[in-house]
Amino acid sequence: MADEKKILYSGMQATGKLTLGNYMGALKNWMTLNEEYECFFGVMDLHSLTVRQEPAEFRKRARDLFALYVAAGLDPEKNCIYFQSHVSSHAELSWILSCFTYMGELNRMTQFKDKAAKHADNINAGLYTYPVLMAADILLYQADVVPVGKDQLQHLEITRDIAQRFNSIYGDVFTIPEAYMGKAGAKIMSLQDPTRKMSKSDENANASVYLMDDADTVRRKFKRAVTDSEAEVRYDWDNKPGISNLMDIYGATTGKTTDEIEKEFAGKGYGDFKMAVGDAVAAMLTPMQTRFEELIKDKEYLDKMIKQNDEKAYYFSQKTLRKVKKKVGLTENIR
Ligand code: TYM
Repeated sequence: MADEKKILYSGMQATGKLTLGNYMGALKNWMTLNEEYECFFGVMDLHSLTVRQEPAEFRKRARDLFALYVAAGLDPEKNCIYFQSHVSSHAELSWILSCFTYMGELNRMTQFKDKAAKHADNINAGLYTYPVLMAADILLYQADVVPVGKDQLQHLEITRDIAQRFNSIYGDVFTIPEAYMGKAGAKIMSLQDPTRKMSKSDENANASVYLMDDADTVRRKFKRAVTDSEAEVRYDWDNKPGISNLMDIYGATTGKTTDEIEKEFAGKGYGDFKMAVGDAVAAMLTPMQTRFEELIKDKEYLDKMIKQNDEKAYYFSQKTLRKVKKKVGLTENIR
C-alpha cells in the first residue's frame, strides 16, 4: 500500500541548463529509489528567484524542468511532480520556520557565501533565507529521505536542526529527514577544472555537459576534458583529479566499479578512455532527449499532470501546515 511506503522528497532549481552533475547527483538516484518510496519532486521555482530571472525564459525553463523529470523516467501518475510556487504551503511554512532559525546558523552556509560573492550587486534577503525555504519544502512532506548531491548536505543539516528544534518545543511534528547520496556521482567536477564543481553557471561551455547536449557535443567535451601528463587510468583524486572525475562519471553511467574501470583501460591511452566515457554518456542522454522533445509538445498531457500533481502536493502539504499552525498557536482560519 502506498501509505506504508516511506517518503522521499527532492527537487531542482528551475535555473539555467541542467548539467550531468544534476543528473548524477540527483535525478539518477531519484529513478533508482522511486519504486521503493512515495515520492515528491519539486520544480523549485521560488528558490530560483534569489537570482534575477528573465520572466519569459524563466517560465519556459520551469516547464521544461517538469517535462525533463518525466522524460528521465519519473512517471507523473506515480510520483508527485509539481511546481513549488503553485503550492502556497511552502512560502507559509518557510515564514514560520524562519522564526525558528538563527542568523548565526544561516551565516555559516557556504552556498550563501559563494552566491553572495558571485552576485555582489544583489545580495538579497531571499539568498540568505534560502535554506529555510528548503527546510520547509522537505518538512512539509514529512520526508524520510532526501537524495541530493554533496553540495546540498549543509542545507540538509540545517533542515534537521530546525526540525529537531521545533519538535523539542512542540512534540513530534516533523519527521527528521536523512540525506541520500549515490556511491558515485555525488560531486561531479568541471571537465576543464576538476577542482571545481560542474555547475550550470560556468562561463566556459566546455566545462559542463548539459543534459540537452547532442551526442557529438558530448563526445567533443569529453575529448577536450583536462587530465594529466601520465597515461594511466587510475583512481587518485589527489594526483589525478581529471581522470578520477571521468572515472566517477563512467562508473555512475555504466555501473562499473573503479577497479573494473582500471582493468578495462589498463595499457590503453586517455584517448580511448575519453571516447568510451563520451559514448556511454551520449547513449544515456539521447533517449531522454528524444522523449523530452515529444513530451514538451504534448501540452494537454503536461497540463493535466501538472494540475493533478499540484493538487496532490497541496493536499498533502496542508496537513503538515495545519498542524504547525495549531501547534504555534495561530488561530483557526474558518473562512
Ligand atoms: P540545484 O538545483 O543546484 O541542484 C539540483 C541537484 O543536483 C545536485 N548537483 C550535483 N550533484 C553532483 N555533482 C554536481 N556537480 C552537482 N551539481 C548539482 C544538487 O546537489 C542537487 O541535489 N537547493 C537545491 C534545490 C532544492 C531542494 C529542495 C533539493 C530546493 N528545495 C528540497 C532537495 C530538497 C538546489 O539548489 O539544487
